[in-house]
Amino acid sequence: MKTQVAIIGAGPSGLLLGQLLHKAGISNIILERQSPEYVLSRIRAGVLEQGMVDLLRKAGVADRMDAEGLVHDGFELVFAGKRQHIDLKKLTGGRAVMIYGQTEVTRDLMTARKAAGGETFYNVENVSPQDLKTERPCVTFEKNGETVRLECDYIAGCDGFHGVARQSIPADALKIFERVYPFGWLGVLADTPPVNDELVYAAHERGFALCSMRSPTRTRYYLQVGAQEKVEDWSDQRFWDELKCRLPAELADRMVTGDSIEKSIAPLRSFVVEPMQFGRLFLVGDAAHIVPPTGAKGLNLAASDVSTLFDILCKVYKEGREDAIEQYSAICLRRIWKAERFSWWMTSMLHAFPDVDAFGQRIKETELDYFVGSLAGRTTIAENYVGLPYENVE
Ligand code: APR
Ligand code: PHB
Repeated sequence: MKTQVAIIGAGPSGLLLGQLLHKAGISNIILERQSPEYVLSRIRAGVLEQGMVDLLRKAGVADRMDAEGLVHDGFELVFAGKRQHIDLKKLTGGRAVMIYGQTEVTRDLMTARKAAGGETFYNVENVSPQDLKTERPCVTFEKNGETVRLECDYIAGCDGFHGVARQSIPADALKIFERVYPFGWLGVLADTPPVNDELVYAAHERGFALCSMRSPTRTRYYLQVGAQEKVEDWSDQRFWDELKCRLPAELADRMVTGDSIEKSIAPLRSFVVEPMQFGRLFLVGDAAHIVPPTGAKGLNLAASDVSTLFDILCKVYKEGREDAIEQYSAICLRRIWKAERFSWWMTSMLHAFPDVDAFGQRIKETELDYFVGSLAGRTTIAENYVGLPYENVE
């Protein structure tokens, strides 16, 4: 079997890259270890930066997002019991974010790929990228017990944090940067009306809380919980009681509660691997970096990696510019590290840390108070939240 670009992983990174390449007339095949139903059952984040919204439009998969997504011009920060508005639109000269779930982005991309006749092999096993440093790399995999060899020009490792792509690069060729936080997020999805028309990020001495949404009738709420907590120990009632306790009274009083549709705990981690290219293999999205969800950057960083790799592959195939591939890692990493910094900062400012001393606690409270009280501070929060610009490929 042969294609120009072999893509490992049918999450948002792999599907979006596949769709853009398809539109540009560059052939590609996607290999995914799970079933389509499994991929669609994962509940992930739901805030899209303007850059990602524009990229989805360019890929021709934005109709439902434009019809059903909610444009948010701001969000709220709560600390010391007070609500503070961050006016994204005013502070960034008109930029905003789009509330539209990652699951829906994935569904739209799957639909578009099917309609375009793009090839995706689901439920494949033992995917193995090979001959990465040669001009004829390939990916072998097993489908229905048979071994298949997919020959290609380039391989895109879009297979997430636990994927095989990063692991197939020799360890001594990579440098890993990592921080694991001593807590996780307990998330609940419910068919209840949102407590507020904008997202609310709340710092509280009992821990962080976030009020998010998927639509005017579906909410996504989160609580900071200890790293060892078990989801079985959190009844719906306990979740709602704790959430209300961490919010100002006027929000808690109007909170509509209901049965959870989904409930899960995710650990918080910052992770970056350098470089993001080895020979003809590129790492894209979660395969190369993880951010804690506090800045809503995970999916958006995957989109900017995809945009950069797509631009590079267009230069390779349309202009014969094979040298362009050497720019991939450096361009991506400059933007990634800025989002890593912002996500780490938001996490540090808003969460309760178990071993902070009294001085450290006051400094943290003061830093947040200073940033939010100053126009310069609010501007830096806003410009990072709506997303820093994508860098061009030379
Ligand atoms: N072989 C084939 N497919 C694999 C393999 C493998 N060895 N390992 C993992 N996969 C698949 C997973 O099943 C998954 O469908 O790769 C896909 C990776 O998808 P995601 O984990 O969603 O990663 P990505 O597409 O980069 O999406 C960006 O940013 O912060 C996050 O929530 C955000 O998940 C989102 C991510
Ligand atoms: C979500 O809606 O799941 C969400 C929103 C904002 C975040 C993280 C998660 O910062």
